[in-house]
Amino acid sequence: MAVEKKDLDWGNLTFDYQPTDYSYVSNWKDGKWDEGGLTDQHTVTLSECAGLLHYCQEVFEGLKAYTTKDGDIVCFRPDMNAERMYNSAARLEMPSFPKDRFVEAVKEVVKANAAWVPPFGSGATLYVRPLMFATGNVIGVAPADEYQFRILVTPVGPYFKGGLKPIKLCVSKYDRAAPHGTGNIKAGLNYAMSLKPTMEAHRNGFAENLYLDSESRTYVEETGGANVLFVAKDGTLVVPKSHTDSILPSITRRSLVQVAEDLGMKVDQRPVAWAEVAEGEFVECGLCGTAAVISPVGEIHNNELVVTFPDGHEECGPVMKRLRETLVGIQSAELEDKHNWVFKVC
Ligand code: PLP
Ligand code: COI
Repeated sequence: MAVEKKDLDWGNLTFDYQPTDYSYVSNWKDGKWDEGGLTDQHTVTLSECAGLLHYCQEVFEGLKAYTTKDGDIVCFRPDMNAERMYNSAARLEMPSFPKDRFVEAVKEVVKANAAWVPPFGSGATLYVRPLMFATGNVIGVAPADEYQFRILVTPVGPYFKGGLKPIKLCVSKYDRAAPHGTGNIKAGLNYAMSLKPTMEAHRNGFAENLYLDSESRTYVEETGGANVLFVAKDGTLVVPKSHTDSILPSITRRSLVQVAEDLGMKVDQRPVAWAEVAEGEFVECGLCGTAAVISPVGEIHNNELVVTFPDGHEECGPVMKRLRETLVGIQSAELEDKHNWVFKVC
């Protein structure tokens, strides 16, 4: 039987945290993960010498849960988040959380918070944030010997204010990720150093930064919290690829490439030079990610240069709109799930 939903103003939620009923927690000690389970405690007590606090051993994930028209609760491709967190942890010398246990833990915590999963059609979703961090003591630079894996969930609205209104980006003078560094994993350290560029961008009236590759400052990489997509004049979906493995492998982006192909679109995944963007080769641009979904980009500023995307300047362009509607339709189980991406929770 469907649970009664919480009495929230679902249509006006922002992308902010509020505690829900349960989180999930498991601890790694003596070389193994404990059984794990739900907790109603939303705080963490740490040693002042925990590895997290000194050397930033922390990785995280982001996915969403949705209520379908039929009242089921589903998640989108949690196995992909399990896989990416596994890789992120390995890169920071942390013990990987078993992928099957990750998916089961997502299921358990979402089910326990079913009343917090926004109703179908509300425009809101339940954001699911798995995270893992070093709790063991370290003073010399070394991996810790104890860790905690948690999953918190919180209901959210759109990531960018204004919902589907095209946003403005600026090309950052800062770098996001070093070549062959940690740009391809989801670690908190990548976001700590993006905060100053983000706040500067906001103060200058931009929603986000667009980062170029830090090796040559020639190619488009991604933004602080989402991958980038372009539409060429002939309708091809152009997806930036990194020479230096410094773009986060977005699950939304990889899904959209498949969706575009299923819709019969031509897709080109290749390095994209900033010069192509500056010369007006693209008619639409969008950001994609779990939080961003697909957010249309109307303009990108690079110092004095302003690049506008003619088919998506005033409102979301037709290609981004079609991709977004198809993706959201699959995620909320309104459209056929050809690739078995939708995972039923309850
Ligand atoms: N790029 C960055 C830097 C991100 O933080 C995110 C968010 O997770 C993405 C891209 C989008 O990835 P995904 O579609 O897996 O959420
Ligand atoms: C997500 O899309 O899930 C992220 O983690 C991005 C973050 C900037 C909110």
